[in-house]
Amino acid sequence: MGTIMQYDFDKIIDRRGTDSVKHDLLHPVFGTENVLPMWVADMDFEVPDFICSAIRKRADHPVYGYTFRPRRFYEIIADWMGRRHQWDVDPDRISFSPGIVPALNLSVLAFTKPGDRIVIQPPVYFPFFSAIRDHDRELVTNNLVNSGGTYSMNLNHLEDLFREGARMMLFCHPHNPVGKVWQRHELEKLAELCIRYDVLVISDEIHSDLLLFGNSHIPFASLDEAIAARTITCIAPSKTFNLAGLHSSALIIPEPSLKVRYEQMLDRMHIGGGNLFGMVAMEAAYTFGEEWLTQLIHYLEKNALYLVDILGKELPDLIVSPIEATYLAWLDLSFLNMDDEGLKKFIIEKARLGLNDGPMFGPGGEGHQRINIAVPRKILEEAASRLVRAVKDSYI
Ligand SMILES: Cc1ncc(COP(=O)(O)O)c(C=O)c1O
Repeated sequence: MGTIMQYDFDKIIDRRGTDSVKHDLLHPVFGTENVLPMWVADMDFEVPDFICSAIRKRADHPVYGYTFRPRRFYEIIADWMGRRHQWDVDPDRISFSPGIVPALNLSVLAFTKPGDRIVIQPPVYFPFFSAIRDHDRELVTNNLVNSGGTYSMNLNHLEDLFREGARMMLFCHPHNPVGKVWQRHELEKLAELCIRYDVLVISDEIHSDLLLFGNSHIPFASLDEAIAARTITCIAPSKTFNLAGLHSSALIIPEPSLKVRYEQMLDRMHIGGGNLFGMVAMEAAYTFGEEWLTQLIHYLEKNALYLVDILGKELPDLIVSPIEATYLAWLDLSFLNMDDEGLKKFIIEKARLGLNDGPMFGPGGEGHQRINIAVPRKILEEAASRLVRAVKDSYI
C-alpha cells in the first residue's frame, strides 16, 4: 500500500528577489517596502513536486524549440473537467490562451465590435473593466447586490441591460473578489436570460477548482446545450497550482463556429503557440494534482476559518464575506468611516499591509479591502494581528 504524501503548506518561502510582482514591487505600488504582501492572487506555497519535476525533466532536454499541443494535451484537460466538475467535454472543443485576461480581451475583439455593450457585475476583478474599455466597447454594469456581505445578482436589472441591447457578458464564476459560488438556481436564471436575449457569455472559471467548505462548482456551460452554444468557458491551472507565471490556460468552446472565430483572433496575434513549460506544467497538474489539491483546499479552509474567527472576535463590526471559493477574502471595513483615500492610507501606513484596495474592483468596492489568504498560517496570523492592532490603536 502506498502512503499518501503530506504537503507542507506551513513552510515559509522567501520569494523576494525572484522578480515576484507580489513581493518585489511593494515600493512602486504601496510607496514603501514596509508592508506584508497579501495582495496579488498567487500563493506563497511551493508548486507541488510532480509539476516541478515534469518541468525539470523537460528542461533537461537541451532544445527548447517550437512545439505544438498534441491531442493528449486536450484529453488531459477534458479528463480533469470530467473528474472534478462532472462535465463531459469533447477534447476537440478545447482551445488555448496565454492567460485568462488575454482570453477575455481576445473574446471581446473576436465577438463584438466597437460600441457594442458588454455587461460586467462589479465589484469584480479589475481587468474585466479594461477588457471592454481598452477596445472601445461600451461597459455596462449590473452591480451585485450586497446584503450584509452576502452577494447576489440583480437579475431584473440585468434583463433591462440585455433588453436594451447588451451583446456580451463577462461572468466571474466563482466571483472574485467576493468569494461567491453561483448556485444552480442563479445560473439557470442567468442562462435563461442569455438565451432569450441572445447574449454571449464569457465565463471566467479560473477559480473553479478552489471551492471550499463542500461547495461545488457547476460549469455554466454544463447546464444544457443551448447555453453551452453561447458560452466560452475559461479555465486554467494557474490559480489552483500556483502557475500564474507560466501563462497557460484553456478555453472550452462547444459551438464550432465560435471556436473558429476565437482561434482566428488568436492566430492573428500569433500568440497561440503558448509556452513550452506552461504546457508541461498544465499536463502534470491535471494528471497528478488531485491529492495535492485536496490538501491545499483543507489548508485554505483552515486559514479562512482562522481569519473569520479572529476578526469576528477582535473586530466584530468588520464583515468578512462568506469565503465559499478562491483564496481571497473580502473585508468590509466601512465601520471605520474613512473615505477611500483614508482607508487605503490606513491599511498601508497603520496596519502595514499590502492589500488590494476595494475601489479598484469598481462600484461596491468602497470601504472594502481584499486579502489573499494563500499564505502559511504564521503569515496570516501576522496579517490579522497587524489589522486588529491598527484598528484598536486608532480608537484609543
Ligand atoms: C477572475 C480572474 N480572472 C483572471 C485572472 C488572471 O488570469 P491570467 O493570469 O490567466 O490572465 C485572475 C487572477 O487573479 C482572476 O481572479
